[in-house]
Amino acid sequence: MSNDTWTDLGPESDFPADEHSCLNTEGTNGTPGTAVVVVNVKGEMYALENRCPHAGRPLGDGACAGMTIICPYHGYTYHIKTGKNIDFPEEETPVRTFPLRVEGGRVQIQLTNDEAEQT
Ligand code: FES
Repeated sequence: MSNDTWTDLGPESDFPADEHSCLNTEGTNGTPGTAVVVVNVKGEMYALENRCPHAGRPLGDGACAGMTIICPYHGYTYHIKTGKNIDFPEEETPVRTFPLRVEGGRVQIQLTNDEAEQT
């Protein structure tokens, strides 16, 4: 299996600095895509799953502050780059993060092979 499976999320201009965007990768054959949040922190972009590990709510409904994103439902705060829970890094499950790259002006993330085969 190849580890080099990248999913295109759109042009870099769709992800302005100091904003975060929620989107879904496209599934095929009736399979769901993956819900992601792309955060642009001063020109550096990061991708996290748009699902808070605490109770499964959409993390992207929250606000970003520096390198953190705060879930609006119960206030858990996660590190945007590592996905770790800031307040309970050892006790709580981190948010999934995805490798992200910009190729030819397009933002791409690397899903696991299983997910990529669904898209
Ligand atoms: S669902 Fe995010 S903190 Fe509870």
